[in-house]
Amino acid sequence: MNLDLPDPTAVISEMSAELWNSAVRVLDKNWAGDHMVPSRRLYPHQWSWDAAFIAVGLCYVNPSRAWRDLRSLFEAQWPDGRVPHIVFDPHTAEGDYFPGPVFWDVPAYGGRRPRGSTALVQPPLHAVAAWEVYRRAMSHGAAAVREAHAALEWLYPRLVAQQDYLTGHRDAGGAGLASIVHPWESGLDNSPAWDAAMSAVPADLTLLQKYHRRDLDVADAAHRPTDVDYARYLGLVLSYRDGGYADAHLARDHDFVVECPNFNAILGAAEIALAQIAGVLGADPQVHRARAQRITTAIVDRLYDARSRTFRVLDVRTGAHSPARCISGLVPLILPDLPAYYADDIMTEARSARFGLPQQTDLPAPSYDRTAADFDTLRYWRGPVWINVNWLLRRGMLQHGYRDEAEDLRTAMVRLVHRSGEYEYFHPMTGEGIGEPAFSWTAALSLDLLADRSIPAYARAA
Ligand code: SER
Repeated sequence: MNLDLPDPTAVISEMSAELWNSAVRVLDKNWAGDHMVPSRRLYPHQWSWDAAFIAVGLCYVNPSRAWRDLRSLFEAQWPDGRVPHIVFDPHTAEGDYFPGPVFWDVPAYGGRRPRGSTALVQPPLHAVAAWEVYRRAMSHGAAAVREAHAALEWLYPRLVAQQDYLTGHRDAGGAGLASIVHPWESGLDNSPAWDAAMSAVPADLTLLQKYHRRDLDVADAAHRPTDVDYARYLGLVLSYRDGGYADAHLARDHDFVVECPNFNAILGAAEIALAQIAGVLGADPQVHRARAQRITTAIVDRLYDARSRTFRVLDVRTGAHSPARCISGLVPLILPDLPAYYADDIMTEARSARFGLPQQTDLPAPSYDRTAADFDTLRYWRGPVWINVNWLLRRGMLQHGYRDEAEDLRTAMVRLVHRSGEYEYFHPMTGEGIGEPAFSWTAALSLDLLADRSIPAYARAA
């Protein structure tokens, strides 16, 4: 464990100080009392994997808020262990976000849920985030360490329940990985990785007459998922809702059931982090290490396509790999147990013209293969650069000893956000900011990239 934390003001240059200060301002503005909103206009509630990325950076400047944000999210955990992908803020009007609580109409359970939520999940990065917030606490003094310890004690059983839900209820493929039942669960909403599986999902465009897409009131339609995709998103929610959001017989009864390398790599990384947390709390780390190994093995067995030597999305209903080469295929690099052979393949893909690491473009990796005919420089997850997945990729590089490339990627991310601002995503050719300005995870991860040059505690030796 690296507890030798740099003093941010000592390690960052003047340019970095500007970025540091503006990122802190974004996080101050987006704090909503007991949780962080991703952005004020487009996402005025709390999002699940956003909260994890946010905690990773927020802990440098306000660890109490980082813990509060994670706690707010887990207070909305369902009795079956699922952690909802959006927790609704009761002070935000129904009309300020669609689909809101009325559309989701989630079942009440004993009046325990103080805030409404969706019934979907998102990548379970929270154990990794909790561990990062904990290990940074040392630099904030004894009271912060006590606070961190208490927070870990509160979170640990809830994080374990989240993993149990995902590897239990959501193991539609029967091999120990989690299936997602909606593109929103991936966090990579309209990624081309879903196109093949989504083509079998009915697109009922009359849903868009019945329901109003509020995202298009506040964002450019050319940057957002298409109406056809959106109609499918709504239809999938309605059919899951009609089944009471139950997960029995998913592969048979649900129209979209896929295993994603990004989601499952995070699932595995969560077990590594839980092993670290268990060690601090006097629980058994080995059970988590063993689970991480099993998940890594299943990812290699099921999601690795030997012909192209890349990790792909698996359609559980058809058994087919997606033909699309997306950034999600690079994220298994975060798994410390991933054999070097596969790590090398991921790096080959990352360095290729498809993803062009900073040596080629001066920009972080795009969300989709640059050489694909349908590469789209503007539309959400179909081309633009996103900081969160690049942050994961850098973490994977450090795990596997690609330190120079990790440093180049870190520099490219910091430069991009400093130049363009804390945008939601970025044009993959020009670096221009797209989507929401003042986006929380871009701000938070910038703080981490500025302050943290350390190697994760469990990194593989170079
Ligand atoms: N990402 C979806 C949205 O745009 C839902 O999580 O709101």
